[in-house]
Amino acid sequence: MCYEKNLEHFNLMSTNIIKKNLNTKFLGKKIYYYQKTNSTNDDVWNLFKNENANNGTLVVSDNQKRGKGRRSNQWYSEPGLNLTFSFLLNLKISREKLGLISLLVGVGICKGIYHSVKLNACLKWPNDIILDNKKVGGILIESKEKKKKIQLCVGIGINVNSDISKFPIKLQKSSISLISKNIEPIQRELLLSSILNFIESEYLNNFKNVTSNWLFYCSHVNKNVKFHHQDRIISGEFLGITNKGYAKIKENNKTKVFSAGELLL
Ligand code: BTN
Repeated sequence: MCYEKNLEHFNLMSTNIIKKNLNTKFLGKKIYYYQKTNSTNDDVWNLFKNENANNGTLVVSDNQKRGKGRRSNQWYSEPGLNLTFSFLLNLKISREKLGLISLLVGVGICKGIYHSVKLNACLKWPNDIILDNKKVGGILIESKEKKKKIQLCVGIGINVNSDISKFPIKLQKSSISLISKNIEPIQRELLLSSILNFIESEYLNNFKNVTSNWLFYCSHVNKNVKFHHQDRIISGEFLGITNKGYAKIKENNKTKVFSAGELLL
């Protein structure tokens, strides 16, 4: 691929460039960069355990070897080409609104991608980032509760400059990379700063509109979908989400609400 020639100078990310382009109040104010790691989510929890992580502390890595995905899947990423990062959030919201955080993060990611590279990514419930009907990114949120305080680790993986034909075969059909729609290699630091700027802004200024904003970016509202719930595949119309962010699906003329499950691409 012709873009590979130009990638050398993007191979290692610069935290200075990330910081210079951040206009956040707390998100990414402290950055830990690891050239190589197993999982940035695990890194955040380790920092937290050793009291080196405040609200918004960011861990970013150029080479995540054992990325964790949702539903015990692995998150695959190639060294030096994509974004793999996690941050800590100390929450001031009630437990029942927790599910809304992943929706809000998805909205921030779509806005950040558009602002930085002018591509229209969209969302698949609950929190897959989609481009051209394929998965371009994912969010894994893990939580801990200590003395009634909720801490979240928000982990985000985005395929940025990867050539998907080099991905494991089983992922190739369902995955896409932002570069497939861009002529130039994408500077990951600028994309990352933009995503963090928008996530924080959604969190601080736009929480009350999260469900309507999420629906704006949803790729499958009012469409027929196949939905994997427990051991069953449900076919029905995706009607939208509840005020807690649960999926509303009409199956055989009955509207059902699901707090978990997976929409099939
Ligand atoms: C998904 O399955 O869609 C969620 C993928 C989340 C992957 C990211 S990459 C950075 C962070 N660290 C991890 O180990 N996982 C998340």
